[in-house]
Amino acid sequence: MPTPCFVANWKMNKTIAEAIAWLREMEKHQPLLPERGWEVILAAPFTLLCSISEFLKTSSLKIGLAAQNVHFEEKGAYTGEISPLMLRDVGCRYVIIGHSERRLQFWETDLLIRQKIKGAQKAGLIPILCVGETRRERKEGKTIRVINHQLKKALRSDDPQSGATAGSRKMILDRFIIAYEPVWAIGTGETPTPPEVESVHRQIRSFFKPAMGEAASDIPILYGGSVTEKNIEGFMKEPDVDGALVGGASLSAESFYKMIDRGVKAKIK
Ligand code: 13P
Repeated sequence: MPTPCFVANWKMNKTIAEAIAWLREMEKHQPLLPERGWEVILAAPFTLLCSISEFLKTSSLKIGLAAQNVHFEEKGAYTGEISPLMLRDVGCRYVIIGHSERRLQFWETDLLIRQKIKGAQKAGLIPILCVGETRRERKEGKTIRVINHQLKKALRSDDPQSGATAGSRKMILDRFIIAYEPVWAIGTGETPTPPEVESVHRQIRSFFKPAMGEAASDIPILYGGSVTEKNIEGFMKEPDVDGALVGGASLSAESFYKMIDRGVKAKIK
């Protein structure tokens, strides 16, 4: 069984004061957060990571810290970049890699995404790898082809000694989380139906079966794209939906903890 998780992706939002206010509100509603066996993760902008990390050190809140991006090198002359080691140093355990906003607005290529996955894993960070099709690709019936391509490119190992084979490819098989985020569902209020999401998640899981066997059942596969406290239950009831990656609706602590509460209940029913 994968460890189910809810990830708040704040994107480019919040000042330090706003972040601390959010954390204090989450703290007050702790009884609504799962005690164990679940992960709640906060992916915050770089400028907030230090303050959040300090807050969490003295709080009983069980929230894992994630960054939204990372460079692949440990250090060096890369003006404006943040390394995996720096993220570890500030208390991050996770990092989002390959979000469609970075693929499409910042021209991140499959090669760059693979380098970032490798760099993150080398430093002991757990990548949250985002995959998903555009509206056009969906209309053309290419959803699974696109996602398999993104998975193959992101997780292929360049080292012939490492990993197991999936088809003819060597795969990087350290711990990672997959987030299926259809590009057309992000921030639009539109979503695929829960059975459509389940079908994609099942196919993502079967992508890993040749390389990982039964261990493929342990990969957390999250759904992302216009998730709210209103629609979370439908998604979480599906067997291969292990949690959610939430943008807009995670900015309010209230809607995020309500969503977690409803999502957990839907899953354990
Ligand atoms: P929304 O929840 O705002 O649609 O964003 C989803 C997303 O991109 C999370 O990474």
